[in-house]
Amino acid sequence: MIIGIPKEIMPGEARVAASPEIVKKYIANGATVLVEQKAGEGSFFFDDDYRAAGAEIIASAEELFNKAELILKVKEPQFNTTYNKHEVDLMHPGQYLITFIHPASPANHEMVKQLAARGIISMTLDGVPRISRAQTMDALTSMSTCAGYKGLLLAANAMSKFVPPMFTAVGSIPPAKALIIGVGVGGLQALATAKRLGAITYATDIRPAALEQAQSLGAKIIDTGVPAELAIAEGGYANELPEEWLIKERAKLREVIKDMDIVFLSALVPGKIAPVLITEDMVKEMPNGSVIVDISIDQGGNCDITPAGTTEVKHGVTLIGIKNIPGMLPTSSTLMFSNNVYNLVSYLMKDGKIVLDRTDEIVQSILVSIDGEVVHTGALEAMNKK
Ligand code: NAI
Repeated sequence: MIIGIPKEIMPGEARVAASPEIVKKYIANGATVLVEQKAGEGSFFFDDDYRAAGAEIIASAEELFNKAELILKVKEPQFNTTYNKHEVDLMHPGQYLITFIHPASPANHEMVKQLAARGIISMTLDGVPRISRAQTMDALTSMSTCAGYKGLLLAANAMSKFVPPMFTAVGSIPPAKALIIGVGVGGLQALATAKRLGAITYATDIRPAALEQAQSLGAKIIDTGVPAELAIAEGGYANELPEEWLIKERAKLREVIKDMDIVFLSALVPGKIAPVLITEDMVKEMPNGSVIVDISIDQGGNCDITPAGTTEVKHGVTLIGIKNIPGMLPTSSTLMFSNNVYNLVSYLMKDGKIVLDRTDEIVQSILVSIDGEVVHTGALEAMNKK
């Protein structure tokens, strides 16, 4: 198997799909690994590190896409301005692709259809199911871990005050108060980070299991009163709440956030637009110099005035809507991502070849295009809705 690791071309993307350590593992398993020149530089992994691991450094992306049988990437295929060609057009029939494709997102429908039309067998990492045997392959969880940690640091940095309590010659300064809304993977990590920085931490969620975990990390719990039978869907995930309950939740949060220095938003219902939990009126009542980090921004955001992809100050509050937070922690996110992808590739490989068992739950949920067709359920549903 010839594995190709191209340099990511999305502006500002510093991650790479394989660390030198993981390249060594692919090679030990019998693969040949081609790495595009400078592919790892953004994550502080250099060409010499990859050479030492046994990889061949390839100067041109075109040559790499041409020679590889399996392409491993971080971001979905994009238009490559160097060659004036889309990355999909650099690929060839029968080639395998593993990356984050987000195939249900309308912005990617055309690209997904092109992948199918070109005969590419593509698999998406956002499809890895959250089941125990797939945990080591779950790059989405790894990236949420990075976003929780780094997102809270962004908040601390943007805040106009100290986070920990300070006892100084001019008196004592109380610690910052941080509220985490939605304590799933990202939120729990943000909570732990806020606690380590010395903040007083508060948390809310609609799933009692999530609240138990937040409490065990030392957070004071804000009870929104949403009944568990409404909150929990099949498989233990959160449910989309009816509007009347969202109104009640917002009323409760309005009281609480008046007093918060940091509000970290990571409430999400799988496959849905993020619930709006903070409105502009509520932001106006927050203390001057406080910060909102809205990591649900890719799904529309939990605050209705979060600026998508950037940071702005509105009503005296800094609103952070940065989208690629894991990319701001490139070495750690690349190390986690590479491991997840390696575990997935190893799972799919039998005797040096990829063998797709179409009856397997993991294969079913990651497969996007095969045999010239789009087969991903979420993508097909979203395409038919248009
Ligand atoms: P998750 O599914 O583990 O957690 C979401 C939590 O929100 C769950 O605990 C759920 O019960 C809770 N929730 C749902 N509805 C709620 C409501 N009405 N009120 C309170 N809580 C509610 O998700 P994860 O992995 O932590 O991701 C969170 C968000 O972060 C997602 O939108 C994800 O796409 C995003 N993300 C953003 C990144 C960035 O760079 N901006 C990077 C990685 C993830």
